[in-house]
Amino acid sequence: MEPILQVKDLQVSFQVKGGEVKAVRGMNFEVGKGETIAIVGESGSGKSVTAQTIMRLIPSPPSIIKQGEIIFKGEDLLKKTEKQMEAIRGKDIGMIFQDPMTSLNPTIKVGKQITEVLIKHQKMSAAEANKQALEMLKLVGIKNAEARFNQYPHEFSGGMRQRVMIAIALACRPALLIADEPTTALDVTIQAQIMDVMKDMQERLGTSIILITHDLGVVAGMCDRVIVMYAGEVVETGTKWEIFKNPQHPYTKGLLRSMPRLDQKKGEPLIPIIGTPPDLIKPPVGCPFAARCDHAMKICERIDPGATEFSDTHTARCWELHPMAKEGNSQ
Ligand SMILES: Nc1ncnc2c1ncn2[C@@H]1O[C@H](COP(=O)(O)OP(=O)(O)OP(=O)(O)O)[C@@H](O)[C@H]1O
Ligand code: SF4
Ligand SMILES: [Mg+2]
Repeated sequence: MEPILQVKDLQVSFQVKGGEVKAVRGMNFEVGKGETIAIVGESGSGKSVTAQTIMRLIPSPPSIIKQGEIIFKGEDLLKKTEKQMEAIRGKDIGMIFQDPMTSLNPTIKVGKQITEVLIKHQKMSAAEANKQALEMLKLVGIKNAEARFNQYPHEFSGGMRQRVMIAIALACRPALLIADEPTTALDVTIQAQIMDVMKDMQERLGTSIILITHDLGVVAGMCDRVIVMYAGEVVETGTKWEIFKNPQHPYTKGLLRSMPRLDQKKGEPLIPIIGTPPDLIKPPVGCPFAARCDHAMKICERIDPGATEFSDTHTARCWELHPMAKEGNSQ
């Protein structure tokens, strides 16, 4: 599949009082045209920092992009000026955050917030933009769209506001949509509706999506591939079935046991991963999961395992999976 986005050896740090927080420590991944990839991982693993770096939305300072390339449509986003990024955000790359109230302007009517994007990026006339904005509101399932067009964000429920955000993010038909926990703040039935809207819109528009989520049901329902992040690194990546049916990395296995699943039996408890992620001011030199891993060996603490390939799409970083450790491997 032709990649629309390639993230190459991305390293992002934050300068804080106690030193440098190495939040993203060498991310590599691609997103194909029309593909949906999920980024999963515990809190603090670097998912949002990765997403916001792609959009160049992290203020610097305190952030420092230490290294890497973010190739979007053949050009490195890290080399763009702020002015160039402004032209790309909302037009070629859309973004939806967890809390639409922080991204919607409370003082501007909802319809106008969509038309503004269309006028800015698509150079539409006001009449064309109004027509298109109304169409978008209908497409994301807002009833009485004509009346809703002239209302303010506070007149909408949380789920309806998130639909508006999707309408804004997709108004210019961006090639890529980044959604960072778009439904976390909503209740479960509304979450499912919002995910349906996103999926439906993707099918209509062919948008590629990077979806950050804590919900494996959502991953199963709409993603093609999964990236599992831990301590600022990709520890495992594969198609969703490779990750669900044949997880290899001890962290992925633990994460799957700790996150809600579709086939979860009622009352079946989630099993948290014991311990906490490493301090990213002084990240471990070896495997970052070693301090929490039941399978840890001496080598794990000293040397980074590197990636082992299981298929063209499936890789994981773990000494136990290393070809040299095949003998004695109980997998
Ligand atoms: N402005 C900042 N200053 C210092 N450290 C930061 C800053 N923003 C993020 N970090 C650190 O970067 C790391 C990655 O954070 P990030 O927000 O990407 O995590 P996340 O995977 O999105 O977690 P969550 O699931 O909770 O949203 C964390 O250790 C966090 O403390
Ligand atoms: S490399 Fe070692 S510590 Fe890391 S996940 Fe594999 S077995 Fe566990
Ligand atoms: Mg986050």
